[in-house]
Amino acid sequence: MLIPKQASKAWCGAFLVGSLALASCNQTFNTQINLIPEPSEMSISAGVFKIDSAGLFGNAGSKHVHFAVNPELSELPAEGYRLRIDGDGVQLDARTEAGLFYGKQTLLQLLTPEGLPYVDITDAPRFAYRGLHLDVSRHFFPKEEVMKIMNAMAYYKLNTLHLHLTDAAGWRIQIDKYPKLTSEAAYRTESDWRKWWDSSTDRKYLTEGTPGAYGGYYTKEDIRDILAYAKEKHINVIPEIEFPGHSEEVFIAYPELCCAGKPYTSSDFCIGNPKSFQFMEDVLTEVMELFPSEYIHVGGDEASKAAWKKCPKCQALMKREHLKDVNELQSYMIHHADSFLTSKGRKMIGWDEIMEGGLSPQATVMSWRGESAGFQTARMGQDVVMTPGNYLYFDFYQADPRKQPFAIGGYTPIRKVYSYNPLPADSLTAEEAKHILGVQANTWTEYITTPEHLEYMMFPRALAVAEIGWTPQDKRDWQDFKSRVNTQIPVLQKMGLNPFPLSYELDFSMDVDTANKQITVYLDAEKYPAEIRYTTDGSVPTSSSPLYQDGIIVKDSADIRAAIFEQGKLMGEPSEKRVDYHLGIGKSIHFNNRLYPGYMAGGEQALLDGYRGGLTYLDGRWQGYTDNLDCVIDLGETTELHSVSSRYMQLTGPWVYQPLYVELLISEDGKNFTSQGQIPTTISPDDAMLNFQTYTFNGDWKARYIQLKAKNQKGFIFVDEVVIW
Ligand code: ACM
Repeated sequence: MLIPKQASKAWCGAFLVGSLALASCNQTFNTQINLIPEPSEMSISAGVFKIDSAGLFGNAGSKHVHFAVNPELSELPAEGYRLRIDGDGVQLDARTEAGLFYGKQTLLQLLTPEGLPYVDITDAPRFAYRGLHLDVSRHFFPKEEVMKIMNAMAYYKLNTLHLHLTDAAGWRIQIDKYPKLTSEAAYRTESDWRKWWDSSTDRKYLTEGTPGAYGGYYTKEDIRDILAYAKEKHINVIPEIEFPGHSEEVFIAYPELCCAGKPYTSSDFCIGNPKSFQFMEDVLTEVMELFPSEYIHVGGDEASKAAWKKCPKCQALMKREHLKDVNELQSYMIHHADSFLTSKGRKMIGWDEIMEGGLSPQATVMSWRGESAGFQTARMGQDVVMTPGNYLYFDFYQADPRKQPFAIGGYTPIRKVYSYNPLPADSLTAEEAKHILGVQANTWTEYITTPEHLEYMMFPRALAVAEIGWTPQDKRDWQDFKSRVNTQIPVLQKMGLNPFPLSYELDFSMDVDTANKQITVYLDAEKYPAEIRYTTDGSVPTSSSPLYQDGIIVKDSADIRAAIFEQGKLMGEPSEKRVDYHLGIGKSIHFNNRLYPGYMAGGEQALLDGYRGGLTYLDGRWQGYTDNLDCVIDLGETTELHSVSSRYMQLTGPWVYQPLYVELLISEDGKNFTSQGQIPTTISPDDAMLNFQTYTFNGDWKARYIQLKAKNQKGFIFVDEVVIW
């Protein structure tokens, strides 16, 4: 909880009311309330009501325990509740069953072996939609795993599970009218995505029952079991059936539904073929018979659209309907899905590509390629769920990629997830803001093969999403959240989950002060509490190294190494950061080559601002080029120089490669440059693991101008920072 740290300690009675209370307070008593999500209003008083779980949940209606749903409680929002615990006992009131359920989750989280702390809580969610998405196509997870995840979702007041049921990797739901979807398109030759998809030009699906086939699907009975379980947990399950892209598996079973009429030829439905529309309606009809969810997700993302450009049927439809391009063709199909679902009393939701070619009138958008599509949709007066990749993709790494199980890329540690605010002040008018329904994190499972790994990627990051979705923004604070989330690791383990235990790595942030020519380095840990010790000379810290308190000031250069210590022992591996307040900071820089506009992170000055890029090229420090880097730095006057270095990243998943070589040229007049040689990369372009190389030229020069060239070999070059001494 946020402010009343003191108060939260006070409720065991020990800290505020003196020795008498101390005598009655068990020394091992948990003295901090660690609710997640943090309630919207909570006050805590000294005292504990003695009760156990059986007394609490077995005796509702007794003298001391009152649980009540009262529809007349109009001051409470639908999912809200009021909970008072004092010397008289427990009083929990809500307007709806959902509210009562959430009040009970709060009670479960408050309950300790000693009883319940005295609290007065009035609580309701910030957003109605608080979701997790789960891709069961790339890897199939049995219904028991889905239920296990729902246990944790409910405990932290998440209320929506989005099941990605179909994709190229396998169709995962029984459809009676199209039995071949599961008999021919739910199994494949390989579980390993890198073997089956990334590096194979000959990937194959297998018929159900083939020995060694990998895959699976939910029968209708399985789906009913999942839905019955979800209902008990007040979780709405939204099914996603992909149209018109990401559908290779469908054409294994029903090749006539793609443009070429043959399997293994396209990812997209043939929109010019009326049978595609019949299929869509038939499948959605069976899906609606099973799922009570008002929202039905129809995908819409990443269609290739290539086949449509040449397909006579698609071209004829475009002509007939005056569709000017393939975006409008896709939109034609999605509009049809929208009308169909709306006519059945449901609502269509899709990924933000459904805006391309014209958004259909009742559609709700999931904004995944950043936030702007979401804000744009809200401004158009239509509903949105925010799920931007840079914050809320749980297939991204959550700690140093070099030390984690292989993932798709990216970098969304829990601190970053927690920092997300779906509705920053002033982003939308009050009326528009009503269209931001809430928030969802997505777990795509290309590289996640087991339930244990799935849980490791989802938890505890999902708890950050729970708090984003529930807690008022002004009550959210990372430092406070991290102290609570650390206490939840054993709780999640007790639920049978395999959470990431939070990292011993340290996060470095910097404050470059050009007035005083110094850099202050701040360290932060996910672990709490954390005794952080550091050195500035690159040596491994020991238990007698300086204790980190509130910033390390660097006037020139430092090789900071820092680590967390527990009982005098260094935990994990030390984290490192080189910091230089160097000669180039603030000097002017001219780029001879055009920059790739999407990655001018940090602005023109980013290479000379003292802030060094971290583990992800999306941290606002790295600059990306699809061309060669060619820049000239003007130091303002002839200067004695001894070293010029620049650092580059490689991450082949998103096409980021080391330069073939880096060349340094220097000049006194800005016209005549002399080369000081080239330094080649030592890293193979086939090295798929995140890596960094610093290219350092040493010498004794007098120069005013420094030119750096880095030769692009393919994809992107990412560079930061140029350090000049
Ligand atoms: C998505 O990540 N393709 C929605």
